[in-house]
Amino acid sequence: MSQTKVIADRHFEIADIDPRIYGSFTEHMGRCIYEGIYEPDSEFADEDGFRKDVIALVKELGVSIIRYPGGNFLSGYDWKDGVGPLSERQAKLDLAWHSLETNQFGTDQFLTWCSKAGVEPMMAVNLGSAGLPEALEILEYTNVDADSKWSNYRVQNGHKDPYNVKVWCLGNEMDGPWQLGHKNAEEYGTLAANVARGMRQIDESLELVIAGSSNRQMPTFGHWEETILEKAYDLVNHISLHTYYEDIGDTQEFLICSTNLDYFINEVCDIADAVKAKLRSEKTITLSIDEWNVWRLSKYQNLPRATSWETAPRIIEDEYDVVDAVVVGNLLISILRRSDRVKIACLAQLVNVIAPIRAEVGHPAWRQTIFFPFSYTARYGRGKVLTTRIDSMKIESEKYGDVNTVDSIVTYDEATNTAAIFLVNRSLTETHLSEIYLAGFKDITILEQATITDSNFKKSNTLATGEQVKPDKKITSSVSGNTISISLSPVSWQMVRVSLKKDWTNS
Ligand code: AHR
Repeated sequence: MSQTKVIADRHFEIADIDPRIYGSFTEHMGRCIYEGIYEPDSEFADEDGFRKDVIALVKELGVSIIRYPGGNFLSGYDWKDGVGPLSERQAKLDLAWHSLETNQFGTDQFLTWCSKAGVEPMMAVNLGSAGLPEALEILEYTNVDADSKWSNYRVQNGHKDPYNVKVWCLGNEMDGPWQLGHKNAEEYGTLAANVARGMRQIDESLELVIAGSSNRQMPTFGHWEETILEKAYDLVNHISLHTYYEDIGDTQEFLICSTNLDYFINEVCDIADAVKAKLRSEKTITLSIDEWNVWRLSKYQNLPRATSWETAPRIIEDEYDVVDAVVVGNLLISILRRSDRVKIACLAQLVNVIAPIRAEVGHPAWRQTIFFPFSYTARYGRGKVLTTRIDSMKIESEKYGDVNTVDSIVTYDEATNTAAIFLVNRSLTETHLSEIYLAGFKDITILEQATITDSNFKKSNTLATGEQVKPDKKITSSVSGNTISISLSPVSWQMVRVSLKKDWTNS
């Protein structure tokens, strides 16, 4: 058994946690919208056609903000096709996913669904096949209360009050050659700046996200961020980054893939800060990791493109196992660790398509393995993040050098006098005895513990198996003074929640 020390001190805070880091993403892709959140013929549907069982799980998941309508789909989408009477909406080709978009679900349904699900909407404007005029029109439709064309059209469609969508993405993955209307950094930066300027002429207070790199391996990464920020620095609030991980035959390396996200976040911050210095700006750009998850991407690469134009085909409905849950829990630790700069993050996607929630026609929706680390972190990773130091045995990685076997972060919620310790043991074989020292606190009592692990790392929750992987809530940790001791099994994710008080005597 190996020993690990985790040390956090209430005097050393990283930042307040923005609850929007617990966001997600719904795209018109596969069965995320249709048969996912919207299935009017379902026995589980409400009067608007929304699946109530899915809404209940979205609430349990603790999602705060949801990005829509894409993704690659966005770059060929005309939002006007998805508003107005359902009987008049026409089907269109979706070039991104080679499917047929019925347009039965659109902007009004999404925004109504958000209010039912209790989440904030995060919308995106198409900068692939469309541009400034369309961006201004949809913004007028959703946000403006005036006697004007698009504002009146919203009222005519039964929505008197504007929705006041605050956060808007300026296109999606425009650096990717696969993107409809793909642009180089100069072209995209100029367009994004013009669109941002125009949108701000309607509402100065919008939060705008400029589209950064689609992943860290993009050949244009770095140059892309620098160029687009130089053109739009003062006009945007956040820069996005997208990142997906998969086990490509080395599970140990996959278990430490959050190191890649740590690097990616730091690099984007460094580039943004270099532009800030160059422009002599006082403003700091923050990050929106508005697509992140585990995705068995290589399984789908080189598949022939679908020749039929199907409605809501099954696309990338990955089944997640225990290892994936540990990785997702670890990626959340990385996001929390940079809560000084990461203000929005969206687990991609929400239902069916690489998703924590699965739904099948005629069956109640269920939770995939990755649902649990997300729901616990979203519920209890609140308040402030404390600087968390880890002294642990190392994993030797070809890509990243020596990496801690145990990763961890401590959050402290002053409002409820509680702290949450999130831990992952990334070893495939070794149990780790961890001692967590919380300095500057007293009267520490364990309230709750949740563990996700299984001797069969490949176990997942399918329609056939049911939810066989779920958190074990047994309390196996103990406290002595300021030290919490816990044993971490190989390939495991844990959360320990404690009540505590500030200790002024040792301050
Ligand atoms: O989430 C699936 C796809 O991944 C999105 O459409 C795209 O933005 C990304 O490449």
